Amino acid sequence: DASDIEKGTYPHFMLKEIDEQPFVMRKIIQEYQDDNDQIKLDEDVRQAMADCDRVYIIAAGTSYHAGLIGKEFLEKIAQVPTEVHIASEFSYNMPLLSEKPLFVFISQSGETADLRSVLVETNKLGHPALTITNVPGSTLSRESNYTLHLHAGPEIAVASTKAYTAQMAVLAILAVDTARAKGLTLDFDPLKELAIVGNAMETLCDQKDQLEQVARDYLSTTRNCFFIGRGLDYFVGLEGALKLKEISYIQAEGFAGGELKHGTIALIEDGTPVIALATQDHVNSSIRSNVQEVVTRGANACIISPEDLYREGDAFVIPTVHPLLTPLVSVLPLQIISYYAALHRDCDVDKPRNLAKSVTVE
Ligand code: G6P
Repeated sequence: DASDIEKGTYPHFMLKEIDEQPFVMRKIIQEYQDDNDQIKLDEDVRQAMADCDRVYIIAAGTSYHAGLIGKEFLEKIAQVPTEVHIASEFSYNMPLLSEKPLFVFISQSGETADLRSVLVETNKLGHPALTITNVPGSTLSRESNYTLHLHAGPEIAVASTKAYTAQMAVLAILAVDTARAKGLTLDFDPLKELAIVGNAMETLCDQKDQLEQVARDYLSTTRNCFFIGRGLDYFVGLEGALKLKEISYIQAEGFAGGELKHGTIALIEDGTPVIALATQDHVNSSIRSNVQEVVTRGANACIISPEDLYREGDAFVIPTVHPLLTPLVSVLPLQIISYYAALHRDCDVDKPRNLAKSVTVE
């Protein structure tokens, strides 16, 4: 029962849940691994993935951001065409469906009303649904055909942290399993790579003092903040901005690096913090020229890069992991920076104003 969960020595659930992420990775590996070190997955889920011609991911909030990464996994690893939709928009902007759609509902709580109303509709239409959730007995799990469990343990803080990284991990496993079932050859072992991710997370959890200083350097007096990135980093930037908004009330937005020049750069003033993720080799020079553009206009740029792409002057270095799995690692500094930004502003970290952990109204 959630009310029995204790913070222990932690001042806030959010910090505890951030720290739990390495253990959640290990737990997921354990739960999704068979005795021969192969992926263990419900045969029905495997079949549903093999049978569909397109995946429609439906989600809200942080889970939507995990869905954006999930699409990349499913398309790049498993070659399954995938769309990601904001649950509350789906009924108005319903896409033309393929012949054999599979609906994938991503929801920490499994109770979000916006998702449920889509599920009711797709059930009526007779389309198969898979729910990826932290709560197997939840409404979405019960009302869909298949469930994948996140195994993240109860998440109490309103701002989602460990559920987000767990969602991406399970989506990566699902993508790899689907690829294998299709006979595609892969050059990496996802469970081994996730173990490396877990270690990288642990390293980052041990660098809180350094990240608290980053929060002081960039966010202590600001009223706004931008996150930029390209490719996967763009999606992580969206999640970084959401975290910061949710708990520190700093107005924050995530942008694709290439879109800056089409409008947003007008907002850059002297001292505007711009947090840039530069974790992807193939877009590294482009994102760094975006940083130059904002710095020229006075921005206070904070570059986060992995060891192998580090350049002098970058504000924070993260361990290198498999490039596709970088989002699971690069989001940690963003979570921790947001936590300290909120703390320094005396915000109610675990229960931010106007927000609820699970929103059961549309
Ligand atoms: C609420 C929470 C968010 C969460 C969203 C989706 O708005 O405050 O943190 O991301 O719901 O929740 P779900 O349980 O469906 O993942």
